[in-house]
Amino acid sequence: MTKLPLGRLRLGVNIDHVATVRNARGTVWPDPLRAALLAEAAGADGITAHLREDRRHIRDADIEALAAGLTIPLNFECAATAEMQAIALRHRPHAICLVPERREERTTEGGLDVASDRNRLTDYITPLREAGIRVSMFVGHDPRQIEASARIGAAVVELHTGHYSDLHAEGKLAESHAELAALQQAAALAHDLGLEVHAGHGLTYDNVMPVAAFPQVMELNIGHFLMGEAIFRGLGPAIEEMRRMMDLARPGAA
Ligand code: PXP
Repeated sequence: MTKLPLGRLRLGVNIDHVATVRNARGTVWPDPLRAALLAEAAGADGITAHLREDRRHIRDADIEALAAGLTIPLNFECAATAEMQAIALRHRPHAICLVPERREERTTEGGLDVASDRNRLTDYITPLREAGIRVSMFVGHDPRQIEASARIGAAVVELHTGHYSDLHAEGKLAESHAELAALQQAAALAHDLGLEVHAGHGLTYDNVMPVAAFPQVMELNIGHFLMGEAIFRGLGPAIEEMRRMMDLARPGAA
């Protein structure tokens, strides 16, 4: 396995659930852009927003406001549909993260099946790449999915840490260690194939450090836990604490 110098890990803050709270009342408050600007001021390196097909949280106008109002990179998360491709090409975010989407799911439950959909995804990402958007595939740790992501020309894979997070929360230590080991191997494979490696889903103060310690990982995307923690300590301090834990996991990182 390649020995890597530890670089500074980027923190992408996912602001979807600010919109969830807003939509619960059908008003204009709280405003996701205001949360994004606060996150930026608290040290976030990027903002992630998932425009779902059913618009259950982030809406088209939010993407428009974020694209216009942010000075840090916007990571536009979406399903690989023609509608989302057109929206991405209109706003030209820094990055697009393609995820599987099922209407009945509560959150993104699994990784994308890149291996079975290689031809379509190759064609799908071509105009995005040509527009200068960094294309990321949200995948599990299956080596076939990582190899397929490299083959279709994606720049990034984001590793799905949701299963690890669930096992950790349930106190299933042996299983969570095994899941972590598989994620670590996947990170190493992705890096060796020339992909930039990100990770996210379900990360909290309790489980973030082992993932943050993977030397290949360059970015974590974290949302739900931070928005919940913001209720208790405020969004800025909640993000600052996550930043501190990520840095603790990488002593001496440049
Ligand atoms: N990365 C991806 C691709 C996601 O779909 C999500 C959830 O929207 C996250 C990161 C953030 O996950 P969480 O909200 O559990 O921190």
